[in-house]
Amino acid sequence: MPKEATQLVLPTDTTFDTSTASVFSDQRTIEAPPFPLPPQLKPNTRLVMDGLEFLSLLPDNAVPVAFFDPQYRGVLDKLSYGNEGVDRGQRRCALQQMSEATIATFILDIGRVLVPSGHLFLWVDKFHLCEGFKVWLDGTALDIVDLVTWDKGKMGMGYRTRRTAEYCAVLQKRPHKAKGVWKIHNIADVWREKVAKTDHPHSKPVDLQGELMAAVSNEGDFVIDPAAGSFSVLQAAINRRRTFLGCDLDG
Ligand SMILES: C[S@@+](CC[C@H](N)C(=O)[O-])C[C@H]1O[C@@H](n2cnc3c(N)ncnc32)[C@H](O)[C@@H]1O
Repeated sequence: MPKEATQLVLPTDTTFDTSTASVFSDQRTIEAPPFPLPPQLKPNTRLVMDGLEFLSLLPDNAVPVAFFDPQYRGVLDKLSYGNEGVDRGQRRCALQQMSEATIATFILDIGRVLVPSGHLFLWVDKFHLCEGFKVWLDGTALDIVDLVTWDKGKMGMGYRTRRTAEYCAVLQKRPHKAKGVWKIHNIADVWREKVAKTDHPHSKPVDLQGELMAAVSNEGDFVIDPAAGSFSVLQAAINRRRTFLGCDLDG
């Protein structure tokens, strides 16, 4: 007798049931301990300060989420785009550039101030994404756990193809875990958001950064950005009722 074919039943609903699934949770089970703020640091303020000095004022294992968007020196060293507007090029060149060693020092200290299982959202340009940036994590307890591509919805610079995207690496301090830490599970890893023209040539998307910080912190928690540029992370923190601490050399 031929055996009857086993009926394969495929799920039709692809949404995650976060109440029962074993690896997902929409709750955070870790909390950031309160700490006294040094008098130099004012919450929700555009501080004018060196980012490394700012970080040195923060205690170890204190902050659940950090954003860092380095002023990549390599971009200026290696590229001089013919299709960059004069105005934007001048504003970009006027910003303080960071060497590879400086970027690594920032990341080392961000790793120190993050709580265990805390997150760093690191904006990475295409050059460093392709060449690799793991060397910046040497000596830290940080590892790359995800990547979000920001589709800017407009044509940027480039000798060959023209850029329409930037990249945000998701780094987590050990121990790595998503359950009980990351609580929003419908963030697409390609995120389209147009940014209104600002005075700063490197403004990042407020809604994406708001969604990311909301996924890995609770209302009232500190969110830090030691090189805040246009202070897009400050705006995101206000929108999401988090407490921003951050600075830029240019204020
Ligand atoms: C790529 S931009 C940041 C853009 C920002 N994420 C935004 O959304 O507007 C990098 C910033 O780093 C700042 N910067 C460079 N060296 C710094 C330092 N040592 N301390 C603080 N900020 C610094 C520059 O002035 C620049 O505004």
